[in-house]
Amino acid sequence: MIATNFELLRLAAETYAPAMNILVTGGAGFIGSHVCERLLRDGHAVWAFDDLNDFYSPAIKQANLRSLQSLALPFTFVHGDLTDAVAG
Ligand SMILES: NC(=O)c1ccc[n+]([C@@H]2O[C@H](COP(=O)([O-])OP(=O)(O)OC[C@H]3O[C@@H](n4cnc5c(N)ncnc54)[C@H](O)[C@@H]3O)[C@@H](O)[C@H]2O)c1
Repeated sequence: MIATNFELLRLAAETYAPAMNILVTGGAGFIGSHVCERLLRDGHAVWAFDDLNDFYSPAIKQANLRSLQSLALPFTFVHGDLTDAVAG
């Protein structure tokens, strides 16, 4: 079988790009939660950082987190505000 360039690139990525620990800010939101899912499915360990603010219903963000947790992949949620200087 002849491997395509895409298959060779994918093999190289899997071989030489080890899984990483990745922090996704806004990880409970619309874009962030999808980024988290993609990274988890690609084999990385993911931390989502989010303050679950009420710009729109926090219930939607909680549902996003439940969905990520249900994947049973290395996912951790950290509740916090990026602008909280005291926590830094
Ligand atoms: N189609 C849909 O179902 C849907 C759902 C949600 C949002 N949207 C839209 O998608 C677009 C992009 O969404 P997005 O992902 O950029 O926005 P988002 O609001 O969904 O995500 C941003 C996340 O960052 C978090 N955040 C904001 N400030 C923070 C701070 N200081 N510290 C920690 N966390 C903080 C918020 O709680 C939120 O969860 C927006 O226009 C939005 O209205 C669409």
